Amino acid sequence: MSAAPTRRSSTSKNDVDDTMESIPSPIKPTQDALPLPLPKELAKYKHKDFEISTTLGTGTFGRVKLAQHLQTGIFYAIKIMIKSEIIRLNQLSHVQSEIDVLMRIEHPFIVKMTGFYQTSDNLCIVTEYVEGGELFSLLREQTRFPIETVRLYSSQVLLAIEYLHSMGLVHRDIKPENILLTRSGYLKLVDFGFCKLVEDRTWTLCGTPEYIAPEVITGKGHGRGVDYWAFGILDFEMLAGYPPFFAKDPFGIYDKILKGDVTFPRHFDAKIKNLIENLLQSDITRRFGCMKNGVMDIKMDTWYSTINWDAIYNLRIDNQPYSPKVEGEGDTSNFDSYADEIEDVTVPLNDEDSKLFQVFYEMMKVGLGE
Ligand SMILES: Nc1ncnc2c1ncn2[C@@H]1O[C@H](COP(=O)(O)OP(=O)(O)OP(=O)(O)O)[C@@H](O)[C@H]1O
Ligand SMILES: [Mg+2]
Repeated sequence: MSAAPTRRSSTSKNDVDDTMESIPSPIKPTQDALPLPLPKELAKYKHKDFEISTTLGTGTFGRVKLAQHLQTGIFYAIKIMIKSEIIRLNQLSHVQSEIDVLMRIEHPFIVKMTGFYQTSDNLCIVTEYVEGGELFSLLREQTRFPIETVRLYSSQVLLAIEYLHSMGLVHRDIKPENILLTRSGYLKLVDFGFCKLVEDRTWTLCGTPEYIAPEVITGKGHGRGVDYWAFGILDFEMLAGYPPFFAKDPFGIYDKILKGDVTFPRHFDAKIKNLIENLLQSDITRRFGCMKNGVMDIKMDTWYSTINWDAIYNLRIDNQPYSPKVEGEGDTSNFDSYADEIEDVTVPLNDEDSKLFQVFYEMMKVGLGE
């Protein structure tokens, strides 16, 4: 299907959140957000502790590479971000928030950060290596997933979203490129670059065009509803093999999102069609996930009537729809190949910009319990 897009990168306009005055939201949170957990204990790493090898993925301001910790032999994925690019793209607050969030969260369907460190040129986030590759690659390879696979995969993503929202965190970049498969076939959400503690509303245009909610495009202020919109897009894309709103360029996509017309393929089951319609609801006061019963409107939907939520949370899926082939530790065959010989360009930072990264040493002290 020509509509199936290639790997999509995220976009973000400069963060204007802090300069906007807060307008009271018409949506009352269904429950008070729990306070964010205290930072977990992190490992103390230096760049020379690792042997860095293959690129696993490329991102906005750097690459994610496979790395072996020399002392323990354990493989990790390190997100190596170029400091000068973070500054140039005005993304310091997003990176700070990414690390702050990863320091505190812990969930079976969310990637685990074990530590972070910096060099003069780079800021590096060390996470567990999720070996099975991107859900995106599996979906393109299989064209589209059978209905039971979608039910199981979407239920894991929903539990991750529910967990984040219970603390007032909104992910803002849910998409198959940011969902990885573990060796045993479970899912892990990655990429907390846009994740944010949102008490009421926020205004930054960020996300990935095909997955952006209408209220983000119109700039009226958005909250946790954007993750439920993206969840609806994800369900559609897993079943159809292509997203519901697509066009050659982002403006064409935004235009279609604002019009909101979804054409469902004929093979869609009536129950999932109904649920997706309730998720891809432009009026957030009527969107599933955003109403008075919150996420329960989705979890209790008839489409999920066969799902045992506790069993999913406790990783008790007996028949995994797919088990990635992983040949030993550090196998990268489930990831696309990237040209490693093209080295990323780094520009030395001036003193003023260098000082901006001082904050990460302070955060590190908290993580190390110092
Ligand atoms: N823990 C991990 N294990 C294996 N691969 C990973 C891991 N974390 C990230 N990757 C790979 O690297 C890619 C880029 O990572 P990530 O999405 O965090 O970067 P990004 O710069 O925020 O990307 P973008 O802004 O383009 O979404 C992922 O899509 C995935 O393929
Ligand atoms: Mg990403």
